[in-house]
Amino acid sequence: MTTALVELDGVSKHYGGVRALQDVSLQVHAGEITCVLGDNGAGKSTLIKIISGLHRHDAGTLRVDGRETALSSPREALDLGIATVYQDLAVVPLMPVWRNFFLGSEPTTGKGPFKRLDVARMRATTRAELLRMGIDLRDVDQPIGTLSGGERQCVAIARAVHFGAKVLVLDEPTAALGVKQSGVVLTYVAAARDAGLGVVLITHNPHHAHLVGDRFVLLKRGVMAGSHTRDSVTLDELTRQMAGGSELEALRHELERAPAAGRIEDGGHRPPPDPRRGRPTDPQGRQDP
Ligand SMILES: Nc1ncnc2c1ncn2[C@@H]1O[C@H](COP(=O)(O)OP(=O)(O)O)[C@@H](O)[C@H]1O
Ligand SMILES: [Mg+2]
Repeated sequence: MTTALVELDGVSKHYGGVRALQDVSLQVHAGEITCVLGDNGAGKSTLIKIISGLHRHDAGTLRVDGRETALSSPREALDLGIATVYQDLAVVPLMPVWRNFFLGSEPTTGKGPFKRLDVARMRATTRAELLRMGIDLRDVDQPIGTLSGGERQCVAIARAVHFGAKVLVLDEPTAALGVKQSGVVLTYVAAARDAGLGVVLITHNPHHAHLVGDRFVLLKRGVMAGSHTRDSVTLDELTRQMAGGSELEALRHELERAPAAGRIEDGGHRPPPDPRRGRPTDPQGRQDP
């Protein structure tokens, strides 16, 4: 077994009295995708913040390249090769794609008073790096705000790969996307994995996770509700666990009972009057024959 790029071992995090994470363990390996699944409030973002140096865990161990550490800033995480793409993507919409690609790390040319941004190089590099990931942008001069959400995610992923990230953390990259764009983004997530990065993919969609994931960690209200490797779980099982199998069963029961109960007790759940016939339905909820 190779050393994990990132390993969490029994990690916990509280915000005041709120338990956001309790005893969570996971591994991120080079050339693999570790999926973290969970509903809203499960603790996914908190987990990301610990891995990306924004927040410090208050119990358990975080290891990077096998070495125990408590990251004290995003800069420190980045220096260790951990790049995070947040859902809201810190981009400047009106700036060209190439400018956003190099934001904060612009190469310069010339010396002293003649020093200026090496625009030609940034353009060419951006185009080449995007192509290398299989993204053929017609024009890297277009404002990044004109790209679709999926394309912007892809640019962010290509950027992390270009700047030498070893670990790529993605916070719900497909959450706001349709089926087709989600597929495109997942393709680039897989491309980052194939480039040898260890990827952490946060999602609440078990289908997306199962398409690309090697490892799966399920979070529920801050605690681990499951931990699987690809060959130990099927999509059906993953979906069931995500939906909370028994909770879903109870809900189905409720929904099946509800309309009937409503009609008997208070005459509720009446069908609306039929506009085509202009006749109201009777108060018992029956419709005229
Ligand atoms: N900065 C914070 N201060 C207080 N509570 C927080 C903070 N961030 C998150 N929480 C709480 O921690 C829990 C987990 O939140 P979060 O990690 O954002 O979950 P997720 O990303 O899965 O929706 C929630 O109950 C949330 O309200
Ligand atoms: Mg979140």
